[in-house]
Amino acid sequence: MPSRLVVLVSGDGTNLQALIDAAGDAAYGAEVVAVGADREGIEGLARAERAGIATFVRKVGDYGTRADWDAALTEAVAEHRPDVVVLAGFMKLVGASFLERFEGRVVNTHPALCPSFPGTSGPADALAYGVKVTGATLFVVDAGVDTGAIIAQTTVPVEDADDVESLHARIKTAERAMLVESVGRMAREGISVENRRVRFGAR
Ligand code: GAR
Repeated sequence: MPSRLVVLVSGDGTNLQALIDAAGDAAYGAEVVAVGADREGIEGLARAERAGIATFVRKVGDYGTRADWDAALTEAVAEHRPDVVVLAGFMKLVGASFLERFEGRVVNTHPALCPSFPGTSGPADALAYGVKVTGATLFVVDAGVDTGAIIAQTTVPVEDADDVESLHARIKTAERAMLVESVGRMAREGISVENRRVRFGAR
């Protein structure tokens, strides 16, 4: 049985698309069973719809408290019985109930080399700092901001002529490849985490 992936998005969904495309090959070992978002009208949801994948939206503003939203998001994800929840450009922090329900099974991809430049503007922060190398990080989500145990990282150079857009585009090309490879290995081999050190091959 392929691993069941629920993917959460907030925007363009190119990382989601890379997973959908990879999952078209049965040997990949995982399938995207649902796509959730915190907003409507985004290309990420349209990509899921075009692929015939179930979608749901839970907007923070529709709930009285952040905890209520988190509980509603948790239920919506749980309905699809995920083996792994992939945050792929999901621009919200998931909360305590979410992490409790899916502990150790939520991964996030961040467009910087953690622990550098956490938050929602990784490429801009790397450019402003003047680093010569940056990249993307896939990690197991914990209660912090981009602080979880690192599953994989990939690097790209920062070019003299870069602006935020060109740098983020280069990062995203490398990021998609890393995400597809690592999520596939998680599905096929499993992971173990010991003292922050993540290894493939737990099953
Ligand atoms: C990706 O680069 C992802 O790492 C980043 O948003 C982009 C989404 O692209 N996420 C964050 O910055 C989260 N802190 P996509 O919608 O085309 O997959």
